[in-house]
Amino acid sequence: MTPTDLRPLGKTAIRVTGIAMGCWPIAGVSSLGVTEADSLRTLEQAVDSGINFFDTAYCYGYDGESERLIGRALGKRRDQIVIATKGGIHWENRKQARDASAATLKRECDESLSRLGTDHVDLLYLHAPDPKVPLAESAGALKDLLDAGKTRSVGLSNASVEQLAEFAAICPLSAFQPHYNMLQREIEQAQLPWCVENGVSVIVYWPLLKGLLAGKLPRDHVFDDRDGRKKYPMFQGAEWFRNLDFVEELREIATRAGRTVAELVLNWTIHQPGICSALCGAKRPEQIQENARGMGWRLTAAQIEEIAGALIRRGASVSRGAVT
Ligand SMILES: NC(=O)c1ccc[n+]([C@@H]2O[C@H](COP(=O)([O-])OP(=O)(O)OC[C@H]3O[C@@H](n4cnc5c(N)ncnc54)[C@H](OP(=O)(O)O)[C@@H]3O)[C@@H](O)[C@H]2O)c1
Repeated sequence: MTPTDLRPLGKTAIRVTGIAMGCWPIAGVSSLGVTEADSLRTLEQAVDSGINFFDTAYCYGYDGESERLIGRALGKRRDQIVIATKGGIHWENRKQARDASAATLKRECDESLSRLGTDHVDLLYLHAPDPKVPLAESAGALKDLLDAGKTRSVGLSNASVEQLAEFAAICPLSAFQPHYNMLQREIEQAQLPWCVENGVSVIVYWPLLKGLLAGKLPRDHVFDDRDGRKKYPMFQGAEWFRNLDFVEELREIATRAGRTVAELVLNWTIHQPGICSALCGAKRPEQIQENARGMGWRLTAAQIEEIAGALIRRGASVSRGAVT
């Protein structure tokens, strides 16, 4: 990989790859058929494929399973990787609940470090603002953890521009993590320009729209009742078929470029102005290997234009999903 594939994280000295591995699917909560062996091999394959950036959270797994897997698979390669985790969301009776009080964030950070088998993470996010806790309290707790050296930088996920500004006034902010992909581009209105202006890296989730934009799901795909994706409108009815028509347009462009749909989609995403890195969830080594091939090259101006045409024909954005 060339050094140009590495991007600065906010105003820090940390450098991350444009493609990152999202470590939610390996935790086994909403995904099916993922074995522990698959997860460990997928993590190792990510590093072997040139990815240095791993995104997890306390709540990825009912009991921190994702963090434990990262510690086990990549502990020996700790100095080669950048680990981001998040606090402020936990599970209660298999339902997600928020608690971003200072005491909870500090306790969760210590627990995350222990599961990851490290004395610091590189990036610690507030997973989402907690309406029951003043944002200033959560930001103050993360500033304390930064000052204590338990994290090298701080981020905020799932926040409005007003919340970003309020948080940044209290704690140096290096990263913002919203959802963003070809079909969900709301952040281009306010958060993305604010981050560019304030030197905050935008690290996006769902670049493949939960696998839809990977171009492998057949039109007659039947989602298992336990597959977390089944609940999202983007996988149902007319919206599902409109999305698949769009994927077919992308496939034509990708095939002519000698790329897969996932490679094309990811390359487009990480070269959008202001986007630092795309978090790609993967369950198997071959998926993360393909996703890593989304970096290290550039779409031509003509290909970008063709994609813009397909986006115009696809029309309005698809519906919003839930926070994980
Ligand atoms: N901050 C937040 O609130 C928040 C919220 C959501 C996600 N995230 C982060 O963002 C990451 C990405 O989100 P995500 O994992 O939910 O969804 P995603 O990256 O949009 O999609 C992941 C799924 O797509 C499929 N896939 C991935 N690569 C593929 C390939 N090359 N070919 C075919 N299928 C492929 C796999 O599912 P199948 O094999 O089953 O099709 C995989 O589980 C998460 O892992 C997490 O780190 C953060």
